[in-house]
Amino acid sequence: MTPSAPADDPREGPVLVVDFGAQYAQLIARRVREAHVYSEIVPHTATAAELAARRPSGIILSGGPKSVNEDPAPSIDPAVYDLGIPILGICYGAQLLCRQLGGEVSRTGRGEYGRTPLTVTGSSPILVDWPESAQVWMSHGDAMTRVPEGFVATATSPDAPVAALHDPDRGIFGVQFHPEVVHTEHGRELLERFLYDICHCPPLWTHSSIIESQVAAVRAQVGTSPVLCALSGGVDSAVAAALVHKAIGEQLTCVYVDTGLMRANESEQVEETFRRQFRIDLVHVKAADRFFEALAGVTDPETKRKIIGELFIRIFEEVARDLVVEKGHLDGDDPDADQPGGYLVQGTLYPDVIESGSATAATIKSHHNVGGLPDDLAFDLVEPLRLLFKDEVRAVGEELGLPHEIVWRQPFPGPGLAVRIVGEVTPERAEILRAADAIVVEEVRKAGLYRDLWQSFAVLPAVRTVGVMGDGRTYAYPVVIRAVTSDDAMTADWARLPYDLLERLSSRIINEVEGVNRVALDITSKPPGTIEWE
Ligand code: XMP
Repeated sequence: MTPSAPADDPREGPVLVVDFGAQYAQLIARRVREAHVYSEIVPHTATAAELAARRPSGIILSGGPKSVNEDPAPSIDPAVYDLGIPILGICYGAQLLCRQLGGEVSRTGRGEYGRTPLTVTGSSPILVDWPESAQVWMSHGDAMTRVPEGFVATATSPDAPVAALHDPDRGIFGVQFHPEVVHTEHGRELLERFLYDICHCPPLWTHSSIIESQVAAVRAQVGTSPVLCALSGGVDSAVAAALVHKAIGEQLTCVYVDTGLMRANESEQVEETFRRQFRIDLVHVKAADRFFEALAGVTDPETKRKIIGELFIRIFEEVARDLVVEKGHLDGDDPDADQPGGYLVQGTLYPDVIESGSATAATIKSHHNVGGLPDDLAFDLVEPLRLLFKDEVRAVGEELGLPHEIVWRQPFPGPGLAVRIVGEVTPERAEILRAADAIVVEEVRKAGLYRDLWQSFAVLPAVRTVGVMGDGRTYAYPVVIRAVTSDDAMTADWARLPYDLLERLSSRIINEVEGVNRVALDITSKPPGTIEWE
């Protein structure tokens, strides 16, 4: 499903980023796309023939956490060097190609970590924009000490005798430093020279080309069949819905289930955006009562998640069945079947696609998939964001005209406020938290910090504390402020919010939210804490 066909022009195939572990490959793939060239991540176990079958315009070997001198160390089929496709090795990737092609990588005992001065010592077509010395980002224990036959060394640093090398005849390049990291001066130019001058990739991967190709792909996939989309209020489902709507217009029906556990104004905004602005056929299910009833008396976090997830699915199925009756069967499947057939839009993103290969990632996902839909629903999936990184999804959302507030929304868990209400979830407690949360969002936005924070929200613990207000003693809930910075939610740091912001939050929450008499701040990073309280 590569949007950059035709495949018979080899220069229009993707740039393949070979993954040697950790998260290095994702950042490289994103940088390539920022240069408007389509890239995909592939495992290092792919054979040279498999890689060649993708007709890549270039191959980038990523960094990785291992040492090439370890045994076993992740490697690549050496036949890849004979394919005649330009190759760039970065850090581990550079050491690997150096070693596989007959050069030497040694444990010098002196690694380089962080900002390091680089000296350009020879001419290289990927270093044409570079001054003689520049700061680069290094992270290596081993060093390349002898280049393979046919290669020239073109840069050096205090502890990397060979910091850049290439074979002019075969178009194989290596750099010890990380051009994909912002701390490397001219890193972007290096990648662009490789992509444009060496691989001859035209810069065709733009947000409008993404929309165009996905619109065509959705049309081709679903034909004239009706399509359903569950809107959650989050960025991914919103962009997926807008994209699919652009492709097939009235064939799309969106379903928004108000669980009573949404943020303030979320339901109104979904109505406003999708029904009024986009004129999408929207089924708004007001199911708060059903959710509160199912959650009554439940305090265990995982049980809450399970109840919410199952009820969500049941409601979605009911709506889907009603639509089957109303619109005729969804895709020509047997209308008498138990399950509604048809197409279902999912906002799956590229990192989920890459990670679904690994067992640990899969477990994390299923835990977080509450509010998602089970595999056994008889729908075929339409996944228009499957090839996109989050930043591309946001850019596409903006291009499609979705409001900033939706496009830049912080992540919100599927079970909603329920995992931020410690103890029993009741309508009253949900209301308290929703009001406090709205103040947090508003003040964080006003302080200009909303986009810098990964998440910022309020939590309602299950204790009450004594306070004094006016002449009277109070016995009410505390609210905890949770604000974190993070890149991917796997790790997070508590955000150092300015004191004046904290002061405003405290006084507004206590004054404006009935039932709250104290505000506390959570200063736990992840690990050992999680971002959510449940
Ligand atoms: P934790 O709390 O595990 O959260 O550090 C990591 C990220 O996942 C979100 N999260 C969830 N998302 N369903 C979801 O869709 C869930 O049950 C769930 N629990 C946590 C959380 O908001 C954070 O972004």
